[in-house]
Amino acid sequence: MTRVALAGCGAMGEIVARTVYPALGGLTAAIDPDPARAGAVAELTGARPFTSLAEARREAGIEAVDVRVPHHLHAAVVLEALRSGCHVLVEKPFATTLSDAHAMVAAADDAGLVLAVAENYPHLRAVRDARAALAAGRIGDVVALRSTRAYQVGGVWVRDGWRHGGGPSGGILLDQGTHQVSLLRCLGGPVAAVAAAGDADTVALTLRMASGVTAQSVLTWSAPGPAAQAEATVLGTGGRLGVVVDYDADEGGCHVWTPARSEHTGKENYYDSHRRMVEDWLGAIRTGAEPVVPGREGLADLAVVLAAAESLERGGGFVEIP
Ligand SMILES: NC(=O)c1ccc[n+]([C@@H]2O[C@H](COP(=O)([O-])OP(=O)(O)OC[C@H]3O[C@@H](n4cnc5c(N)ncnc54)[C@H](O)[C@@H]3O)[C@@H](O)[C@H]2O)c1
Repeated sequence: MTRVALAGCGAMGEIVARTVYPALGGLTAAIDPDPARAGAVAELTGARPFTSLAEARREAGIEAVDVRVPHHLHAAVVLEALRSGCHVLVEKPFATTLSDAHAMVAAADDAGLVLAVAENYPHLRAVRDARAALAAGRIGDVVALRSTRAYQVGGVWVRDGWRHGGGPSGGILLDQGTHQVSLLRCLGGPVAAVAAAGDADTVALTLRMASGVTAQSVLTWSAPGPAAQAEATVLGTGGRLGVVVDYDADEGGCHVWTPARSEHTGKENYYDSHRRMVEDWLGAIRTGAEPVVPGREGLADLAVVLAAAESLERGGGFVEIP
């Protein structure tokens, strides 16, 4: 069994420690500069608690690191782990700069290590069903796409204060925009250019897909809704397709409508995808197969998000994706 360390025992780290790792044989090390958080995760998983990756590497003989730290710290922790010979799973957004993202992909490639990104959407059954329906031509040619992620962020998610505002980790674009870009790329393929309007808490994106189709996405964490959901629609020449991602209940799924029939698949909760992501990563380490979301896919999502941030800063206008 792979000896895994969890780096970052905050809100997300605690969730995977409680809901994912116990069924996968536990963790070897729980790392957080806050000893109480490391201790709490250690208790949940049978791990030894540490306050730094260096200490855990020295004392616990770890082989893989699951990174759940604030965004601007992803690159430093990932590079330290890779350079010490550990496989890595890192939360979205992959990094906060393209140069860091390229360095991370190169470090993994050079060392022959698995670098996977904890980007949930490609692991959701609803998204996989939607991709299969699109590939089979069920709604004809794609005409346009749109997605929405609207909720009110609070509780443990804002406890440490880095998520909001204009700090190096802050803003909805980096946090939720990454998920929405991943979703639109899953449904509509590569992005050629993006334009953005809004502020740190609410953003509207217009994406020019490489296929020539246009997509839009609205993100806000200032608006409550009747259900904690994200959704996307793909409009086609022969029908339309809807994806619902449910963060609270088990109402996630894919709906395909054509004039001839209407079909719904799935009863899915968003958080199920966390177990699938970790299993996929550990499977890739064991078998040498490529993970569902390798580093270069995290880099591709980030390139779109950073281009959108550039558009936002400039006050609008399309920015080409490098
Ligand atoms: N995929 C999802 O559904 C999802 C949901 C929430 C958060 N996230 C991601 O998880 C990551 C963490 O978010 P969060 O809400 O749990 O943040 P958080 O602030 O609650 O937790 C981050 C933890 O990292 C610790 N930390 C800081 N530097 C560290 C280091 N060098 N080594 C080890 N630990 C360190 C902090 O002390 C803190 O406890 C972010 O990348 C975020 O985007 C993903």
